Amino acid sequence: MHLKVNGDVHDVDAPDHWTLLEVLRYRLGLTGSKQGCDKGDCGACTVLVDGEPMISCLILAREAEGREIVTIEGLWPLHLARGGEGPDPVQDAFDRYGALQCGFCQSGMILSARALLDRTPSPTDEEIARALSGNLCRCTGYTQILQAVQSIVARARGVEPPRRSWEAANVGRQAGER
Ligand code: FES
Ligand code: FES
Repeated sequence: MHLKVNGDVHDVDAPDHWTLLEVLRYRLGLTGSKQGCDKGDCGACTVLVDGEPMISCLILAREAEGREIVTIEGLWPLHLARGGEGPDPVQDAFDRYGALQCGFCQSGMILSARALLDRTPSPTDEEIARALSGNLCRCTGYTQILQAVQSIVARARGVEPPRRSWEAANVGRQAGER
């Protein structure tokens, strides 16, 4: 089959029953897409297919032929190709807000957030939560993940981004010391 992944067309030889996730990981070596539950529950395998977030463990690779697939490995280069500088703003915000612990959920979270922001550049908090609701995180409690996406929206609106949780904790501690 021929798959277009991160702008490159790959000729791939794989069994017909292999999922897109299996081909990405075990034929193309793109292990940024994580194999968590392998049955559509966790969202760790999320990739973009024609700009929409898709659970790659539930699509056969053959079904993705002729479509534009973007994995986490392609996000930064895609941002540069669109005229941006540095990492994709979602990647940068996740970094600045410490929006991970083990990182297993991170590529799926980031790609779901990227798809949301491409579709809706100024989403409400509820829209952000809904867009990320298919991505499970077993570590963080979600606060910093949501704040990371909110910070991008705040910048676009020209308003103050949310205070990072450790900064808020320091402010609270200092106020208690007075
Ligand atoms: S690995 Fe695909 S949803 Fe969990
Ligand atoms: S950071 Fe560990 S699953 Fe989200």
